[in-house]
Amino acid sequence: MDYHVKDLGLADQGRLRVEWAMREMPVLASIAARFAEERPLQGVRLAACLHVTTETAALMKTLKAGGASLRLCASNPLSTQDDVAAYLVKYEEIPVFAVKGEDSDTYYRHINQVLDLQPNLTMDDGADLVFTLHSKRQELLEHVWGGTEETTTGVIRLRAMAADGVLRYPMIAVNDALTKYLFDNRYGTGQSTIDGILRATNRLLPGSVFVVSGYGWCGRGVAMRAKGMGARVVITETDPLKALEAVMDGFEVLPMAQAARLGDFFCTVTGDIKVIREEHFLVMKDGAILCNSGHFNVEIDLEGLARLSTGQRQIRESVEEYTLPNGRCVYVLGEGRLVNLAAAEGHPAAVMDMSFANQSLASEYIVKNRDKLEKKVYPMPVAIDREIAVAIDREIARLKLAAMGVEIDRLTPEQEEYLASYHLGT
Ligand code: ADE
Repeated sequence: MDYHVKDLGLADQGRLRVEWAMREMPVLASIAARFAEERPLQGVRLAACLHVTTETAALMKTLKAGGASLRLCASNPLSTQDDVAAYLVKYEEIPVFAVKGEDSDTYYRHINQVLDLQPNLTMDDGADLVFTLHSKRQELLEHVWGGTEETTTGVIRLRAMAADGVLRYPMIAVNDALTKYLFDNRYGTGQSTIDGILRATNRLLPGSVFVVSGYGWCGRGVAMRAKGMGARVVITETDPLKALEAVMDGFEVLPMAQAARLGDFFCTVTGDIKVIREEHFLVMKDGAILCNSGHFNVEIDLEGLARLSTGQRQIRESVEEYTLPNGRCVYVLGEGRLVNLAAAEGHPAAVMDMSFANQSLASEYIVKNRDKLEKKVYPMPVAIDREIAVAIDREIARLKLAAMGVEIDRLTPEQEEYLASYHLGT
């Protein structure tokens, strides 16, 4: 079997960590059990480009139970958990191509090795695999029935491709499922980002000024948790609607030019480039911590920072110190890559449970409906058949609540009738 991982000797450690994560993934487990019986992915070749984590291992096991033949590579050079990669190769016999810290050439070589599978389905997190397929490996497009995309940034890229008329097969935006973004993006990013910052720095949050750039679902999660830890949270935004929400949620909203002077911590979650740049570094406090939880390492202008700095050294694991011409130092975590995966373990399993339940069901959906789908980006909750897709989201939420032991009320027949009618008013 062809594969590239750091060290197969790590497989036993990975196996225990995967077992630990799977305790928190009951929804995915129920899908895996059904997949094992029904084999909806029998013989389907699936190329996956995802963060190689314990939770992703649980997803791979589910897809394999459904009959898929798989290959997996990393969706970020710094997010791979090497023990998990080793476990998947040694115990699940899934070809994995991922090594934590791989350089850019290796990252793309791995994507190409995964594409060598000649996939029928692609499963991407950030659209690097899809873009490589569309630009450098077009000869493989004829085999592909459809793909799924895990994250906001990837969905934005795919929509841009569709708008340009270059998207060559149907996509489901898993990110847009309610049971994905309301939980994974908000609670997952919120907790795991703070986790990454604390593991990397061991700095005290209470009493600090914590600047969050971007008030989308991920930014909200980070802001909420930083506030909960006792930080004074400042939001920067470019979208007036989101900025207004931040104000009404009780946060101070400032332009970055002002926030830059105040922050002890900065976390970018915008999906855009150069959100923190030269003019901002120059006015920051000595000791400011800078990190990013957006998909790509483009939000902090690291090239500009390196150019400006008079010195640079790694001072702790995942912490790079930059000395500015004014003598102050600022610290960048995890090379400006997703801090929650570079310096911690990513989102906890309990939220990835729902994200990956969506991935599994979206893959099944594409296989079943491959003759009907068009070359466009389908939003998961509405998709092709509104009834079915909405039911998927509600069904995942229902299973999750049941697993958590939470009971909810049911509408009485009279209440259902009331909601469906327009005759009763004042
Ligand atoms: N993205 C964020 N957290 C993740 C995790 N734990 N596994 C896979 N993808 C992720």
